[in-house]
Amino acid sequence: MEPNYQALRREFPVLQRKTYLNSGSYCALANDVKAAFEAYMEDRLLVGANWDVWITKNESVRALTARLLNADADEIAVTASVSAGLNALASSLDFSGRRNKVVISDFEFPTNAQIWHAQEPRGARVAHVPRAADGYIPLEHFAGAIDDETLLVAVTHVCFRNGAKLDIPGIVRLAHAKGAMVLLDCYQAVGSMHIDVKALDLDFAAGGMLKYLLGTAGIGFLYVRDTLTKSLLPTHSGWFAQANIAAMDITANRPAPNARRFEAGTPPVANCYASEAGLKFLLTVGTPAIEKRNMALTRRCMERLEEIGWPSITPAEDERRGATVAVPSRNSGALCAALMQHDIVTSHRDDNIRASFHFYNNEDDVESFVAAMKKLRGSFSPN
Ligand SMILES: Cc1ncc(COP(=O)(O)O)c(C=O)c1O
Repeated sequence: MEPNYQALRREFPVLQRKTYLNSGSYCALANDVKAAFEAYMEDRLLVGANWDVWITKNESVRALTARLLNADADEIAVTASVSAGLNALASSLDFSGRRNKVVISDFEFPTNAQIWHAQEPRGARVAHVPRAADGYIPLEHFAGAIDDETLLVAVTHVCFRNGAKLDIPGIVRLAHAKGAMVLLDCYQAVGSMHIDVKALDLDFAAGGMLKYLLGTAGIGFLYVRDTLTKSLLPTHSGWFAQANIAAMDITANRPAPNARRFEAGTPPVANCYASEAGLKFLLTVGTPAIEKRNMALTRRCMERLEEIGWPSITPAEDERRGATVAVPSRNSGALCAALMQHDIVTSHRDDNIRASFHFYNNEDDVESFVAAMKKLRGSFSPN
């Protein structure tokens, strides 16, 4: 049965005031998530240092993230950010041999390029897969870059600039055929669509909780395939990455046997409360239903933009698109501000504004956005 989206919308108070199309930057706040933050404050006020509960919250986020991705809880590190997870992973890789190439794409979020370039002094070679004339990166371009010297293919699922979704099953097949591992940066996808790390045959995946996972900033995850964990020894470490956190042993580094070895210090406790509530909410709605809804909303939005003569640059094919519609502008920052004057919340990157959809959006949101864009076209469209 389809979720009752009308009722779900009422759980996000901002939707009564704004047309909220900014989940690709920061999700709308759900009542449940606000209540979770308040529960944390209550704990602090009334109990003080409630460590037993805090650890339970951290483990709950791990278990819920595992459920979301169809992974095992032992395969999930709860991190402070995507960047923290990638740095820990990078520190565990050996770039000193012949297989030292990291293949990334032109669609990467900066952190998933900068961190691999930061490994160059350790021997890494970073290859960028370019886009084609139509702006997309076809599989053939990856085939040309992935070779026997490739250690890792580190790619984004959905591009933060234009909303394009890469052909991840195809990229994984190419990489594994050459003996390379695959890291998926799924931050712009996770929660907005169904992701199954086993079905995708991924080696690693990283994301965070503040966008489509309904949580907050300052917390993320790193998935590490269980058969790889023991062969990877992060040099970015800390006491929460140890096999026995309580051991307080200062004589040696004894990393956890599971993905927890990619963690570091004290968990982001308040963020665990919020993210637990966000993940529970999201899982109740269900990612297959969310994916279907976001596909329909983005498709509708793109069709309506065509009709007003201001087409988006996001790929029209469903299999090449995430939950964001990017629209070019001669002044994207000013357009974003002008939309805000109409109570429409978007974001902008490069020369585009981004309207990102989630299950709590509806067709009226599409219509409000398109009506405002029609009014603003003369001042802000590219020509
Ligand atoms: C695709 C993608 N990857 C990585 C990041 C950065 O994540 P973090 O700030 O948690 O390191 C973002 C943030 O917007 C993102 O959109």
